[in-house]
Amino acid sequence: MQRITEPELMNDEAQARAYAQANFDEPHNMFIQAFDEAFPEIDVSGHILDLGCGPADISIRFAQSFPDCVIDGLDGAPQMLAHGKLAIQKAQLEDRIHLILGRLPGASLPDDHYEVIMSNSLLHHLHEPDVLWESIKQFGVSGSRVFIMDLMRPESEQVAREFVDLYASGEPQVLKDDFYHSLCAAFLPEEIQSQLECADLSHFKIKVISDRHVIVFGVL
Ligand SMILES: C[S@@+](CC[C@H](N)C(=O)[O-])C[C@H]1O[C@@H](n2cnc3c(N)ncnc32)[C@H](O)[C@@H]1O
Repeated sequence: MQRITEPELMNDEAQARAYAQANFDEPHNMFIQAFDEAFPEIDVSGHILDLGCGPADISIRFAQSFPDCVIDGLDGAPQMLAHGKLAIQKAQLEDRIHLILGRLPGASLPDDHYEVIMSNSLLHHLHEPDVLWESIKQFGVSGSRVFIMDLMRPESEQVAREFVDLYASGEPQVLKDDFYHSLCAAFLPEEIQSQLECADLSHFKIKVISDRHVIVFGVL
């Protein structure tokens, strides 16, 4: 099926609340585990950037897994960041995770040297995917580790509906709709490969890690 874009920013309060309250244990733990497997040799420390951090669940799990790092989380939706702020306070990580309101491209960040740039489920929101790859080159330096996880577009809208029934059956309708639209907006691995070639990042690796998830990783 053809890609169907969805709105970039998750600015609707009901949508942001449902997303912040959802249980993402499985995919978000998979994000941390897949990061660990992609970069087994590094001692994760220093400054980390989480692009499209939303309510900061990935940032929090990452900070808890790697205690020697500090994280800047960037997102263009104030509603998502408000939920993120509460979650960070609850996890008592205010001194290690800082949230920044800014929309890509063109956002400014406090640091100009990130050891790791990561992102989960931002790529499929972007109407122009090169915004992600150009931002990574802008905010990274030589040697920065890059780790991206996103959904993969299924072969048909019917399969997208089946994934919603399979993985989000107990969730509120707003979250089910969100998941369906995200699946339809996601890229195929071969499309991501073309994006990487256009961005001069073709040395990054692409790996399918579940029936609906793909990771992209490499060193700048
Ligand atoms: C599906 S959520 C993922 C949130 C988080 N990374 C996670 O895994 O839970 C995508 C997030 O990207 C943000 N976003 C989308 N387009 C953006 C842009 N152009 N600049 C900054 N943030 C953006 C949305 O507001 C939303 O919070």
